[in-house]
Amino acid sequence: MNNEQRLEKIAQYSHAHMTQDRTGHGYDHIRRVVAMARKLSAKENADLLVTLASAYLHDVIDDKLVDDPKTALDGLKTFLSEVEVSAPQIEQILFIIQNMSFAHTLDNKPVQLPLEGQIVQDSDWLDAIGAIGVTRAIYFGGHHSEKIYDPRIKPRESMTKEEYRNLQNETIINHFYEKLLKIKDKLNTPSAKKIAENRQRFMLDFLTEFQAEWDAKK
Ligand code: ADP
Ligand code: NI
Repeated sequence: MNNEQRLEKIAQYSHAHMTQDRTGHGYDHIRRVVAMARKLSAKENADLLVTLASAYLHDVIDDKLVDDPKTALDGLKTFLSEVEVSAPQIEQILFIIQNMSFAHTLDNKPVQLPLEGQIVQDSDWLDAIGAIGVTRAIYFGGHHSEKIYDPRIKPRESMTKEEYRNLQNETIINHFYEKLLKIKDKLNTPSAKKIAENRQRFMLDFLTEFQAEWDAKK
């Protein structure tokens, strides 16, 4: 089996495990993350199989998508050895997908991701900002019955993972101040930082316009 055939199998595995999700982690998200990871890789000297496999698989063991992450992880390990990914590459992929998520970074000491992981993390985070980011935040917020906005509820300054997942007093607009506007300064690679500039401007314009309309100033 060559790497192209491996990636084809990995894509199928990811698709089979992601299609049920309706919270903005569907397979369309995976497709965009993979495409962005490919694009960012062009400027970096990364192992393309590790990068793209991690992009395809980064959400399949997430504790908000699967009931039992440990079993999901074991299943994934078995699958990767069946498609003859090398042991060191499997280890890298698992390390990346277990350590890269935003929620994970809230509770844990920052770990140094390998270049491949930095690329996938950037690709995942770029998909949370800009026009797609605005759409996903509204989609997620609606799905979880968040309020659109409430000026009396202030954005939280810092959060644990548990607080981040507690949507009791969350509003869609606050999510921008709690997470989305901060992403730009957390990105790893120069190419991702460049792409983020325009997306950041778009979100800021959106928030300015939103506030003006909310206050009947426009
Ligand atoms: P990660 O897997 O990086 O931790 P999340 O599961 O936190 O990502 O987020 C998935 C998508 O849902 C992202 O686009 C994110 O911005 C959005 N999202 C997460 N939490 C909220 C929230 N409280 N309100 C609105 N959107 C949210
Ligand atoms: Ni993701």
